[in-house]
Amino acid sequence: MTVMQGAARKAARGLQRDFGEVETLQVSRKGPADFVTRADRQAERTIHEELSRARPGYGFLMEEAGEIEGTDKSHRFIVDPLDGTTNFLHGIPHFAISIALEREIDGNPRELVAGLVYNPITDDMWFAEKGRGAYINDGTRGGADRRLKPSQRDMFSDCIFATGIPFMGKPGHGKFLKELHQVMGTTAGVRRFGSASLDLAWTAAGRFDGFWERGLAPWDIAAGIVIAREAGLPVESLSGGNVMETGDIITANETLLPLLKKRVE
Ligand code: IPD
Ligand code: CA
Ligand code: CA
Repeated sequence: MTVMQGAARKAARGLQRDFGEVETLQVSRKGPADFVTRADRQAERTIHEELSRARPGYGFLMEEAGEIEGTDKSHRFIVDPLDGTTNFLHGIPHFAISIALEREIDGNPRELVAGLVYNPITDDMWFAEKGRGAYINDGTRGGADRRLKPSQRDMFSDCIFATGIPFMGKPGHGKFLKELHQVMGTTAGVRRFGSASLDLAWTAAGRFDGFWERGLAPWDIAAGIVIAREAGLPVESLSGGNVMETGDIITANETLLPLLKKRVE
């Protein structure tokens, strides 16, 4: 975790600087899209360099570079260097670096054992290791780690749920509208903040009472899954099977999960 946090903080310095430039670039006709792509790639390179120096041989699955096989087949980092690209591009300070670690234990298929989600703008470091609970370090309270507690609400009508709205080029627009229709009429609110990793961290912290989204990639959710599970939340696939493979994710506390599922399945 120390190594992962060091890599995230180093990459974050570049993203902070580049985010500051985006507003200036937004007025230019070409727009900041190319610039953001470069910022994204640079952050991924920094994370890759830092992690492979500290843990030579581990494999990688990264959004930009794809799969990089390691000599150590029992470990793999899963990296999204910039989760919330559209927010970044539009000058909205809600995006994160997401890093997870998978490990093979006793010859079983690799499982997620650690995850961190770091927002470079707010300096919120969300993290969890399997069996050790989930925490935030936001630099307050003397820099101490605080344990995350998810929402204990049980009245659906009091809840706020986060989701992801499919955009241009993504399938499932009609299906999403049906899901939203089922949820919005029976709850206090639905939010679309634009970073799946932060949606999961915020649900683990009880800011959201639950989260669902379809068609996500492994790097969007790997770290957030560890954080949510370690905070005590069940995380499931909405379409059966393994959520890391389907990318159709749903989480909420034990009472709310079946109620949310009934509306969006
Ligand atoms: C996106 C964000 C967003 C989700 C999209 C993802 P990106 O990741 O997590 O919340 O709705 O489906 O692709 O592209 O910003 O890394
Ligand atoms: Ca992402
Ligand atoms: Ca990304």
